[in-house]
Amino acid sequence: MRPIYLDYNATTPLHPAAVEAMTQVLKECYGNPSSAHWAGAAARDVLARARAQVARLIGAEPETVVFTSSATESNNIVLRSAARAAPQPAGRIVTCATEHPSVLETLEDLDVEADILPVDGDGRLAPATLAEAVGPETLLVSVMWANNETGVVQPIAELASVAAYRGVPFHTDAVQALGKLPLELAGLPVDFASFSAHKLGGPKGIGALYVRDGTPLSPLLSGGGQERRLRPGTENVPGIAGFGAACAAAERELPGRGERLGGLANQLWAGIREKIPGVRLNGSLEHRLPHTLNLSFDALDGETLVMALDAEGVAVASGAACHSGSTEPSHVLAAMGVPAELGAGAIRLSLGAQTCAEEIGHALEVLPRVVARVRAAGAA
Ligand SMILES: Cc1ncc(COP(=O)(O)O)c(C=O)c1O
Repeated sequence: MRPIYLDYNATTPLHPAAVEAMTQVLKECYGNPSSAHWAGAAARDVLARARAQVARLIGAEPETVVFTSSATESNNIVLRSAARAAPQPAGRIVTCATEHPSVLETLEDLDVEADILPVDGDGRLAPATLAEAVGPETLLVSVMWANNETGVVQPIAELASVAAYRGVPFHTDAVQALGKLPLELAGLPVDFASFSAHKLGGPKGIGALYVRDGTPLSPLLSGGGQERRLRPGTENVPGIAGFGAACAAAERELPGRGERLGGLANQLWAGIREKIPGVRLNGSLEHRLPHTLNLSFDALDGETLVMALDAEGVAVASGAACHSGSTEPSHVLAAMGVPAELGAGAIRLSLGAQTCAEEIGHALEVLPRVVARVRAAGAA
């Protein structure tokens, strides 16, 4: 059996359409998009096409899409811009406890105060909790669309409406939602949204920021006039072409994929429950990305289980892959009230386009065996 990859939330294999688009640009399109001549014009065409492809997938106009180096950068632009615009005395930024480190750690670095709101046991932020927290000093509300560790989906339309009602800009880290859920940003009171290409079959090191027309924002960097001056620096044209192609492919393939992956994930969860005692699913069963399972195993260390599964060729994540290597318990599970010992025994299985029924069957053969072995070794 070939190795099995169940870590699509960390990164997704490049889509063949992205490889093709990037290869073509690398071979043929060497111009700088800022150059006035034909070579520059060819590169500008590539950017325009990719911008339109990203815009279609997020349900917005191409002019609202700014290319960045990563979702981390996109999140930083929005949060730091809000803090810089703070009047004296400084205002506050409202977010929630299960956000990605690129939001939570950026807030720690800012001079403004952060209100970090709690989630319920399912990992969801209640609109009423947000409504209570937003006040005259609030500069920005930032709540992720879907969680990278648990797949829990937030009630983004309601949360954004709460912020809009108070006249406060709303940002969402939509990295895990892109290509998984239908997005119609133009129809929502969302002002900013962050995306990353490598979560849906595009290359690593390319991100995007949706900026609703007319919403004020200041750049992180000073320099040229690229990306409407919001992201100066010569654009990564091949990477952006790959991002656009991955979005176009996701748009074609999205209908039906959620159902297929949800079916496989349910099959996996049902099999695990049947074959492995002392296991629980973390996060809302109802409001979740269908392809993500965050599981806690009694009497077991998640990191040890990940290594033991890796030795059998099965790639899964412990906690969030973005901070794998760290042995700290997951802040996401802690915020949901998962007891520390169960949080320590958590792993994340995430399925993607290439996952097939045969792999699920093989995972269901390997997992029970490896869990039993690791538990026995721990008890010895
Ligand atoms: C929800 C979420 N936000 C932000 C990021 C950071 O994305 P990037 O690697 O493009 O900086 C990730 C990456 O895992 C993520 O899952």
